Amino acid sequence: NEIRLFSPATVANVSCGFDVLGFCLDTVGDEMVIRKTDERGIRITKITGYDLPYKVTENVAGISALAMYNTLKPECGFEIEIHKKIKPGSGIGSSSASAAGSVFGMNVLLGDPLNKTELTSFAMKGEAFASKAEHADNLAPAIFGGFTIVKSIHPLHIIELPTPKDLYATIIHPQIEIKTSDARALLPQKVPLRDSITQWANLGSLVHALHTSDYDLIALSLNDVIVEPHRKSLIPDFDTLKEKVIKAGALGCGISGSGPSIYTLSQGIKVAEKVEDAMFMIYESTSIPFDTHVSKIN
Ligand code: HSE
Repeated sequence: NEIRLFSPATVANVSCGFDVLGFCLDTVGDEMVIRKTDERGIRITKITGYDLPYKVTENVAGISALAMYNTLKPECGFEIEIHKKIKPGSGIGSSSASAAGSVFGMNVLLGDPLNKTELTSFAMKGEAFASKAEHADNLAPAIFGGFTIVKSIHPLHIIELPTPKDLYATIIHPQIEIKTSDARALLPQKVPLRDSITQWANLGSLVHALHTSDYDLIALSLNDVIVEPHRKSLIPDFDTLKEKVIKAGALGCGISGSGPSIYTLSQGIKVAEKVEDAMFMIYESTSIPFDTHVSKIN
């Protein structure tokens, strides 16, 4: 009657796949406990880590849970505990982890009536409340794992991509807050055709590279000519950090979701750790607190 789960952090966009591509981290995530109760309805009974609303209709985990609950109308209720480890506003899918965790846990306790795509669509209700825009590029990898592409959101169509076995992510999280809604407001409504061509060539190549474990092609594909130029000024020392991590051997580097976290991909853990050292060198000379993580992508 109770499930304790790890709801992973995720990296959205992955440079060339704005709003569609994402991957899952296996070392950073929230812990949640979902409990079945006789009393009907959804209640949030405990939140640790960060100060978030207990009111179900104001909490992303509560909103997604309620959407699923009101559709399935089960003859029980649920209590949700959120042990938040992912800082809200850090750019590694904090709201998605909460939104995904509640519906995932409820589904298990109800005997798995819903598939992963259906769970993602309920989780999107919570995510939309948090970011004021409908997108599933963090939710899909949180629920499916590995790399995913959101082919469309209406109807919701998610494609799982293979992960080369030696691929590692290194993340730096500078502790400044960037609201997704603010970072989205910076983006142009129209983009030049030339830039679009570059972007979809990169995305197509990256998908092929993931299928063929072609690390050189991954490196050539991890570029963003559409979104990063507008957002990078929000992140202190972004260009310097990018230059140094590429020198340290990273295949590519970009803004994680809407920032401020920055992700890199590397072949092998040794390179991923060297990249982490390079990140330390750059950020230690600033006054901004930060943390870093290395994670295998599964
Ligand atoms: N694709 C989204 C964005 C992810 O970059 O705005 C952030 O939640």
